[in-house]
Amino acid sequence: MKNLFFFALSASLLAFLGGNKLLHASPGVGPAEVGAVAATVETKAVISQLFEPGSFEDPKVCSTCHRDIYSEWSKSMHAYAWEDKWYQPDYLLAHQQTDGATDVLCGACHAPIAARTGLLPPADGSKFDAASRRGISCDFCHTVTGVSQMYNMGHDSAPGNVKRGPRGDGKSLYHEVKNTKIHSKAAFCGSCHMVIHPATGTHIIDTWDDWKNNEYGKQGIRCQDCHMTPTPGITQSPGRAALMGKPRENLAFHGFIGGSSYAQDEMGNHEQAELSREFLRAAAEVKLAEKITDDGTLELTVDVHNVGAGHKIPTGTTYIRIMWLQIEVVDSEGKLVYSSGMVDDKNYVDPNAVFFRVLFKDAEGNLTGKSWQAHGIGYDRRIPAKGKDSETYRIALPGKGDYKVTSRLMYRSMTQASLDAIFEQTGEALPPVVSVEMAAAQAKVKF
Ligand code: HEC
Ligand code: HEC
Ligand code: HEC
Ligand code: HEC
Ligand code: HEC
Repeated sequence: MKNLFFFALSASLLAFLGGNKLLHASPGVGPAEVGAVAATVETKAVISQLFEPGSFEDPKVCSTCHRDIYSEWSKSMHAYAWEDKWYQPDYLLAHQQTDGATDVLCGACHAPIAARTGLLPPADGSKFDAASRRGISCDFCHTVTGVSQMYNMGHDSAPGNVKRGPRGDGKSLYHEVKNTKIHSKAAFCGSCHMVIHPATGTHIIDTWDDWKNNEYGKQGIRCQDCHMTPTPGITQSPGRAALMGKPRENLAFHGFIGGSSYAQDEMGNHEQAELSREFLRAAAEVKLAEKITDDGTLELTVDVHNVGAGHKIPTGTTYIRIMWLQIEVVDSEGKLVYSSGMVDDKNYVDPNAVFFRVLFKDAEGNLTGKSWQAHGIGYDRRIPAKGKDSETYRIALPGKGDYKVTSRLMYRSMTQASLDAIFEQTGEALPPVVSVEMAAAQAKVKF
């Protein structure tokens, strides 16, 4: 409780001194201006508000009373958004290749507290305080009063003793509680889950736009409805929001589960990793239709359905993540007669596989996964929410007999190539990426 007292004191002192002063404010760049921005990424385009260092509280302070929520959040990718060892190399390369023009842009979402308190730059985070290092944390989200720009983190912050949330009917000895509508809206998430290249206008991450225009968005099934429950399909998770809080029938879960099972396992969060695999499995179904022609060609049609995600699959940084189809045909002795999409001994996926993902094109028109070089979309094949995509394989069977066909929809939250590039850049060998089977189907055919 000592800590708590200290922080309680410092918070009221700050309030007394008129702390959390808004140092300056300038409007964000409106959508119409995006294309017109020059080739440099300007700080003011991404940081509309600047506060004094220390204006946002360390999540450790909140953990004293909000124990369960803290423990869920501390294993979420939001907590790692800055320190993430898969984020840092990409961010530092962007810094190097743009002479630092991207520092604050990336930081606005990956280290919002540092970006809003002027502790970034320098790019290496050497000026960060403890709260800044914890990525997207309690006090950033719970001092948001609204969203004024639907991309590149357009949140309005009012850090201070008033903590804002979806209810506002509880009492806390430490802070004031206020209800704000924005926390219950998908737009709260969407403003960060929508990344637009400030110079070229390319949509780097489009989860928000996608959701807003699909069935889920139209029916108002929010990001929170799926990502702030422990697993998809669970609608009630009772509990208390704080030690002295009221019992609630449905408490917002703060694990923010997504596809990052590989990263979660690497960081020792195995339960979170398993929830992540459950999410991936809830998203898709695979169906097969097969026909054999007179000359012994198996015509195999694989339908991939997006049954569980409120957006395209994959979504987010799909220039790093991949989803692909694996096909295996074996004869009655179990001998492999055809395969596609297999993983080789260097842990690379068959380049001729059917890939569901996005890649950008750079200024020369070459495909790239480097977001800051994006001059447009070079490749985009993903499965829309409640929609499907099909691929037909024509496979010459070696002779008469019975065959077993298996098709799997596979996922990696990182390509092995991007990990190898990190190794080249930093000398740090990250563990090989692990594939997750999202869905599978089997069929028996006779020729
Ligand atoms: C990425 C933003 C984000 C972060 C980080 C975050 N929260 Fe939340 N929190 C939300 C949203 C959004 C809701 C409301 C969800 C809803 O309406 O379903 C919420 C709900 C809550 C509630 C109310 C729960 C209830 O159902 O009564 C509390 C209390 C809370 N958060 C505390 C915290 C604490 C403490 C932390 C840090 C350990 C934290 N939050 C981190 C976004 C966040
Ligand atoms: C001394 C204990 C204590 C500390 C420390 C504390 N809280 Fe709370 N907080 C509470 C209690 C109790 C409630 C009321 C819970 C309820 O409504 O059931 C609450 C409610 C909230 C809510 C309101 C949710 C809603 O919609 O009504 C938010 C948001 C919140 N806290 C955020 C934070 C953040 C962020 C921190 C850290 C900076 C923090 N709290 C630190 C005890 C605390
Ligand atoms: C301040 C910006 C910001 C806000 C607000 C925000 N996010 Fe995120 N979110 C991020 C960033 C950045 C990451 C990636 C962190 C990383 O992997 O390094 C992320 C990652 C995620 C992931 C992926 C987890 C995984 O396993 O890969 C999910 C799911 C997610 N957020 C859901 C939400 C939801 C739901 C909300 C709204 C309640 C929300 N986010 C609000 C920035 C934000
Ligand atoms: C109907 C439930 C549902 C809704 C609504 C929903 N999602 Fe998801 N989301 C999922 C499922 C299931 C997955 C796992 C499949 C995947 O990773 O592509 C997922 C994955 C993600 C990921 C991780 C992508 C990856 O591969 O790491 C992010 C980020 C994300 N969602 C953000 C959002 C945001 C932001 C919203 C709201 C604009 C939202 N989601 C709305 C169900 C939902
Ligand atoms: C508007 C907010 C926003 C901005 C700006 C932003 N990101 Fe992100 N970033 C996200 C979100 C949201 C995710 C998670 C999406 C998902 O899970 O697929 C993410 C995920 C990532 C990841 C994957 C991390 C992992 O663990 O898998 C990398 C790498 C990354 N971002 C790099 C960058 C770089 C480099 C920049 C600057 C050039 C940048 N981001 C700017 C929101 C942002």
